[in-house]
Amino acid sequence: MILLTLLARSLIGLGFIRSARADPSSYQWQDSLSSDAAPDWQKYVRSPPNQIVRPVAVLANYTQGNVTNPNGLLTGRGATTFTRTSVSAGTEKDVPPTIVVDFGQNVVGVLSINFDGAQSFNDTPGLPGIRLAFSETLQYLTNVSDFSRSYNGDTITPGSDQIAVNPYPYTWTDIHGCEYGNEVCEDGLHGFRYVKIYLDALPSDAPDTTSYGSVSIGSMSLNFSAFLGTPNTFTGYFESSDDQLNQWWYDGVYTNDMCTDIFRVNDTDPRGAASPTLIGKLVLHDGAKRDRDPYVGDLAVSARTSYVSHDLHLAPRNVLADLGDHQRADGWIPPASINNYTLPLLDYPLWWVVCSYDLFMYTGDTAYIQQYYPNIVKVLDTFYPSVTNTNTSLISKGVGVSGGYGDYAFLPRQGPVTYYNALYVLALDNAASIATFLGGSKQADADRWTARAQVVSAALNKYNFDTTNGAFFDGTCGGEAYCQTHAQDGNSLSIVTGVANGTRANQVLSYLSSNNARPYGNSFYDNDVIGAGFSQRVYAFISYFEIEARFLVGSASSALEEIRRLYGWMASHDPMSTQWEGIGDNGTPYEGAYTSMAHGWGTGIVPALTNYVLGVIPQGPGFSVYSIKPMPGDIHWAKGAVPTLNGPIRVSWNSNPGGGQFYLSASAPAGTQGTIYVPVANSTVAVYLDSKQYFAANGTQSLSQDGYVAIPINDAQTHTITVGFQQKSN
Ligand SMILES: *[C@@H]1O[C@H](CO)[C@@H](O)[C@H](O)[C@H]1NC(C)=O
Ligand SMILES: *[C@@H]1O[C@H](CO)[C@@H](O)[C@H](O)[C@H]1NC(C)=O
Ligand SMILES: *[C@@H]1O[C@H](CO)[C@@H](O)[C@H](O)[C@H]1NC(C)=O
Ligand SMILES: *[C@@H]1O[C@H](CO)[C@@H](O)[C@H](O)[C@H]1NC(C)=O
Ligand SMILES: *[C@@H]1O[C@H](CO)[C@@H](O)[C@H](O)[C@H]1NC(C)=O
Ligand SMILES: *[C@@H]1O[C@H](CO)[C@@H](O)[C@H](O)[C@H]1NC(C)=O
Ligand SMILES: *[C@@H]1O[C@H](CO)[C@@H](O)[C@H](O)[C@H]1NC(C)=O
Ligand SMILES: *[C@@H]1O[C@H](CO)[C@@H](O)[C@H](O)[C@H]1NC(C)=O
Ligand SMILES: *[C@@H]1O[C@H](CO)[C@@H](O)[C@H](O)[C@H]1NC(C)=O
Ligand SMILES: *[C@@H]1O[C@H](CO)[C@@H](O)[C@H](O)[C@H]1NC(C)=O
Repeated sequence: MILLTLLARSLIGLGFIRSARADPSSYQWQDSLSSDAAPDWQKYVRSPPNQIVRPVAVLANYTQGNVTNPNGLLTGRGATTFTRTSVSAGTEKDVPPTIVVDFGQNVVGVLSINFDGAQSFNDTPGLPGIRLAFSETLQYLTNVSDFSRSYNGDTITPGSDQIAVNPYPYTWTDIHGCEYGNEVCEDGLHGFRYVKIYLDALPSDAPDTTSYGSVSIGSMSLNFSAFLGTPNTFTGYFESSDDQLNQWWYDGVYTNDMCTDIFRVNDTDPRGAASPTLIGKLVLHDGAKRDRDPYVGDLAVSARTSYVSHDLHLAPRNVLADLGDHQRADGWIPPASINNYTLPLLDYPLWWVVCSYDLFMYTGDTAYIQQYYPNIVKVLDTFYPSVTNTNTSLISKGVGVSGGYGDYAFLPRQGPVTYYNALYVLALDNAASIATFLGGSKQADADRWTARAQVVSAALNKYNFDTTNGAFFDGTCGGEAYCQTHAQDGNSLSIVTGVANGTRANQVLSYLSSNNARPYGNSFYDNDVIGAGFSQRVYAFISYFEIEARFLVGSASSALEEIRRLYGWMASHDPMSTQWEGIGDNGTPYEGAYTSMAHGWGTGIVPALTNYVLGVIPQGPGFSVYSIKPMPGDIHWAKGAVPTLNGPIRVSWNSNPGGGQFYLSASAPAGTQGTIYVPVANSTVAVYLDSKQYFAANGTQSLSQDGYVAIPINDAQTHTITVGFQQKSN
């Protein structure tokens, strides 16, 4: 039904082509965006419908020992009963009764179990013990959780959650702490898809609990703790002719929603992260399962996902403001609250500048940018000069305090690392834009930062480019010489920032295609010179910048190809619906069980498709100035909306790839100024704005080099732009 509607729409479009030949002004294209009663995109939304989430299955092949009515806790038709007698204690026959409950997709929150009762046996006094082991994947489902706060130093459990089951019916809720002194302890919140439930007790929990007895579970549920992104919460959306891309866009939003939560002392990273200035605030954690601490580098991707899906600007704003408030005297800004704001990273203070710019551009938060402007000045003018080699003008790891500093992947790299410097250029350019928007005396800052960005950019091109291979070197291996290795991060950012000109950008991207392509994405190193396994490791986080780079050079097809490998892999591997922290050898979770399988920084597909396929990008604070420049690749149509301060920017386009025709309808809120770019691949066609010929390759106007025609828009009307056959003016 829905597909038929869409097909009909494209057919109308194609029909128009034919009639346009006769009379383009007769075309009346209906904007479908506001008229959809039950929008089709809602079918992709992954969020549970309610905060209370029920499991969907008990995995029969995992049931062990004496379990009666294993599905009872799902169906409500009788309890699921676990029975374990001590008759065969100590022998192989003594199998703990076990079931594995599947919530159907990755979820996060606090589990509750409704016990119908429990029975102790005379020979084994004490309450029967139940142990829970949570996991995001079946691969890492064991008798202990794939992750527990205890693995990060909060050692109250051995990795499983323990329950002493009372004889009477009651609801048990997984609250961080211990039931008896420091015995029978539980983690509290978990991010997981599967939970193994087994009748067993820790020897150290005796005599409070015993491994024997009988326990009945009537039902169980999860109280979803994170942002519940139901369809009515979407202020932005995306849909296209590619059903898989659509699903992955909504998977990304759900992944990010799972990381959006209130900062609480007992379910965040136990390693000194529970800052009093964060507790109780809405934040964007790095991951749902772990680390559960908001990191600013991660926000470079995850905040954009928030802005274009639910316009949830408060979560990133709270994080950015808090980190700005903890700026060190020398200008350095902490990456996160962990270790009481002391984790030494060299790249994250630059991401703080970039993310502050994004917050301003996507949400128009002038109060934030004015308040934290002095922090921008200090980090760029005090801290980074202190780690710059004045001989080369490049940030050089080893200069000043930077020697022991790490980055998003704690990489042991040295010297004038391309990534730090390309990111420095991005931060300087973003800061210069902020200064120009704020105006007045700040223009001097803008000029200084722009000049410095140009110097760093030139130095990178002069010193760091490997002309033999056509890619930037990563950095040095301790000595003077550059290592024979090339990283995805610096090379991609060199294109995003314009450090690499057109020639070099194409060389770099073709180098990455030839050397870094894996079945599950593009690896972050071309070889293993810096670390074992690096040539097989893929970070969706840093791949986002390569994908952006591919769109920016006009190669939508190679951007989409990389997206499909990377996101297609994650979507087809357990837990299926959420996007990962990192991918390692053979496409497995890169840090084994510890890997977070729902990590906000892995959701770059969301801003990538919104910014480049739908085509909407802010060019002024809060989208006061915007651009719409769709890059279709092999996609036939796309439609969606991007939330702004004063209402959505809506776009809908369709095309017949290869045929040169293109139709776009768009509207933006009052008071904004935009430029709409339409692709004009075929120089024999003309462009019509609201049915009036706007452009024709007739000698007086010529196509820009990238094959787009730019049309300025200064009002809140819905405009339609068509690229079709030129009218013969006879
Ligand atoms: C058990 O069943 C689940 C769900 O049907 C399946 O995904 C999984 O691969 C099976 N595991 C084993 C070890 O057979
Ligand atoms: C399993 O436990 C039930 C009680 O819940 C008991 O009636 C039954 O005999 C047990 N089965 C076995 C094989 O021990
Ligand atoms: C988990 O099971 C393994 C065997 O698979 C066993 O060696 C280990 O002691 C068990 N751990 C706990 C905490 O029960
Ligand atoms: C955190 O957990 C501890 C037990 O480990 C408990 O004493 C404390 O009350 C909890 N704090 C909050 C705010 O829940
Ligand atoms: C779910 O958790 C929230 C936050 O702790 C709480 O306010 C709410 O009452 C809980 N809902 C249920 C049904 O327990
Ligand atoms: C964190 O650092 C601040 C400032 O240095 C200090 O005042 C505070 O006591 C520290 N907190 C902890 C828990 O160490
Ligand atoms: C800059 O060059 C001078 C002279 O060659 C040298 O002594 C100094 O160590 C260099 N500085 C750095 C940071 O490499
Ligand atoms: C790009 O930069 C390189 C190195 O500076 C230069 O040789 C080349 O001509 C430039 N290409 C373009 C198109 O500007
Ligand atoms: C442009 O489109 C027209 C109509 O489809 C076609 O006849 C012509 O060959 C195309 N030109 C090019 C250069 O593709
Ligand atoms: C060329 O196209 C432009 C814009 O559509 C129009 O104003 C102009 O009259 C055309 N010139 C000729 C010679 O057709």
